[in-house]
Amino acid sequence: MTIKDTLHKYQQRVDAYLDDTLLSDSIEPRLQEAMRYALFNGGKRVRPILVYMVNQMLNGKLEDADAAAGAIECVHSYSLVHDDLPAMDDDDLRRGKPTCHIAFDEAAAILAGDALQCAGFELLTLDTTQPGRNLAMVKVLAKASGDSGMVVGQAFDLSHVGKALTLEQLEAMHKHKTGALLNAAVDLGALSSGCTDVETFTQLRRYGDAIGLAFQVKDDILDIEGDTETIGKPQGSDVVQNKPTYPALLGMSGAKDKLSQLHSEAISALQPFGDAAQPLVELADFIVYRDH
Ligand code: IPE
Ligand code: IPE
Ligand code: MG
Ligand code: MG
Ligand code: MG
Repeated sequence: MTIKDTLHKYQQRVDAYLDDTLLSDSIEPRLQEAMRYALFNGGKRVRPILVYMVNQMLNGKLEDADAAAGAIECVHSYSLVHDDLPAMDDDDLRRGKPTCHIAFDEAAAILAGDALQCAGFELLTLDTTQPGRNLAMVKVLAKASGDSGMVVGQAFDLSHVGKALTLEQLEAMHKHKTGALLNAAVDLGALSSGCTDVETFTQLRRYGDAIGLAFQVKDDILDIEGDTETIGKPQGSDVVQNKPTYPALLGMSGAKDKLSQLHSEAISALQPFGDAAQPLVELADFIVYRDH
């Protein structure tokens, strides 16, 4: 199977799971319409794919990874809806379509984001046969999402618009706003496989740290070098808003050097897993070479 086929297989799997599991009757159907709009709109599903790939590398069962894969995509999709709001990045295009607050309205987008976040956590509680594992998953996702993870990274991003950052500050920001959820995907994949070996988690975290940061460095590069149609969001948004980014601080060639260094770090962290890690190697390649 080529990496493209593997990505497609997992994208379809998490979409089917979310479609089957998530939404039911509602007194306010428009809320669920906005949630569905934000969720089923052509995202790459990189975080669920990571969950599935780590689960498989550690000989887990795919069905044990579905809830975690779905949960992290719900949290990620909520973060994008809020990221695009006028009070944040004020963008009007996401995944090639009008952003949620444009397609619906601002209040609907805020509430759809809120509800997607809750829905994600609820998914982790559905299987009552493994309460210990589920509690560990809730903890991983909560820590990666909130004021020690994605949300604090977003807060730092917004409070440093137009300000000069040190490289350490920029790295810390990216590690929180984007790296934390990607790292959580790796941990969730391992937990879903039943892994309890501390060494394995530590080694996988090296991979997660590297691709987590690489993901945002590449996102920053694509903001400059991508085109709106391919990236599905407004090209040049960071530059217009004077956002703190890797290319802004290091220049384009410095940002690309950093990306290639992180790519090598990710691959080297997978060495101990041998051939079983091949899909994760190819996912690192995809993250670094992607055009959207
Ligand atoms: C975009 O994430 C926002 C960042 C954290 C850099 P993705 O590039 O994973 O967006 P989708 O889910 O594929 O739309
Ligand atoms: C990361 O940063 C967004 C989140 C943590 C949700 P960006 O603001 O760069 O993401 P895009 O470029 O809008 O997808
Ligand atoms: Mg942003
Ligand atoms: Mg943004
Ligand atoms: Mg961006």
